[in-house]
Amino acid sequence: MLHSGQVPQRYPAGRGGNPFATVANPVLAQRVAPPLHALAEDPVPAEVAWQLVHDELMLDGNARLNLATFVTTWMEPQARLLMAECVDKNMIDKDEYPQTAEFEQRCVNILADLWHAPDPAEVVGCSTTGSSEAGMLAGMALKRRWAARQPVGSPRRPNLVMGINVQVCWEKFCNYWEVEPRLVPMAGDRLHLSAAEAAARCDENTIGVVAVLGSTFDGSYEPVAEIAAALDRVQERHGWDIPVHVDGASGGMVAPFLDPDLVWDFQLPRVASINTSGHKYGLVYPGVGWVLWRHRTALPEDLIFTVNYLGGNMPTFALNFSRPGAEVVAQYYTFFRLGRGGFRAVQQAARDVATYLAGQMAAMGPFRLISRGDQLPVFAFTTTDQVSAFNVFDVSRRLRERGWQVPAYTFPAERTDLAALRIVVRNGFTHDLADLLLTDLARLLPELHAQPGPLRSAPGATGFHH
Ligand SMILES: Cc1ncc(COP(=O)(O)O)c(C=O)c1O
Repeated sequence: MLHSGQVPQRYPAGRGGNPFATVANPVLAQRVAPPLHALAEDPVPAEVAWQLVHDELMLDGNARLNLATFVTTWMEPQARLLMAECVDKNMIDKDEYPQTAEFEQRCVNILADLWHAPDPAEVVGCSTTGSSEAGMLAGMALKRRWAARQPVGSPRRPNLVMGINVQVCWEKFCNYWEVEPRLVPMAGDRLHLSAAEAAARCDENTIGVVAVLGSTFDGSYEPVAEIAAALDRVQERHGWDIPVHVDGASGGMVAPFLDPDLVWDFQLPRVASINTSGHKYGLVYPGVGWVLWRHRTALPEDLIFTVNYLGGNMPTFALNFSRPGAEVVAQYYTFFRLGRGGFRAVQQAARDVATYLAGQMAAMGPFRLISRGDQLPVFAFTTTDQVSAFNVFDVSRRLRERGWQVPAYTFPAERTDLAALRIVVRNGFTHDLADLLLTDLARLLPELHAQPGPLRSAPGATGFHH
């Protein structure tokens, strides 16, 4: 459709228009069609453009009922107010917006403390557009550190070891930065990376191992401490010092509050860097992410650029130059507003709803849980072997009729036989809404059981990348 050369449509005079609506709302009387392929010649009044764009957006799903996304769909009015106040601030203009830059640094400090950096003064970190950019930056640092150890002109190809359950951003990283992805397949009930499998795939060209907290597919935490210990043994045996990067896109903001005894972060000397999505369980609207390195030596100097800041130079490491400042301000507000106790309460509420919902789903009969929502507040479930009248894709489609967006998807290699539904419980998904979802599902089940067989098949192998 892009560059098709078509001119914008204008409705012919006299067409359409409910005369009552026209009288009630003159905006609707305008004979204007939104541009599809090219700019119109003339401007239209702001209220007309607003009304028509607003009306088209009615076709979008309701974000609060989107149980597919990890990304924040509810913030307090005060946070929205701050974001509106900062909507015109460019994060890169550190000289012009020094206080926004200061908030970014305070957020990095807070995360360094939350993730037990042994020497917070030595931590380097920055905000990003999300975990994807954060992962790219962390991956680049891993690759550059590995390259610095290679003889000049070495033909060796770097590789990155991770579970096949990693989010698509890691496959993108490997593709864009020419790193061999060593994806450990799933096997049986092992639906994420294990320490033994990770260690077995490492060699002298492994730039790092990515451990995910937790897995996008089912919300389970990968065993970061075991992976680090297995890599200690690899180093003893072969001399290869392979760092771990923790993709804590969601868990980086859950585990510190709900699983304080779990050792997964900078307490493990092998963990070189961690990313998280501020816009997931960091409780901020999209898009903000964070990446931190335990020590400035983990981030090669030659990747850092400087921007002018208060007449001096400020180091930056980012893929984009311009980026909205509002989300960073909102992240700082959220840290300030909630404190540890507030975060604990919010994340615990999400976990309570997730485990409750998972338990109720399991009790319905036709469903089997793949995870229980007791790590990330996320769980996956499938139909039991006894169910032949419908499949998970039918359930997903029927729930959509009531506005619930619950994705169904197949798992990757070696478990492509497994198709599942996944529910992500976020701040704002209350017990009340959970009960309404259960009621709707219970109401649908007799109709689903009455089907002659599944009506929908997988829309394509693992086309699922949230
Ligand atoms: C484990 C994991 N890593 C990375 C990402 C990508 O994060 P973002 O959407 O913030 O770029 C996601 C998104 O769901 C994720 O779950």
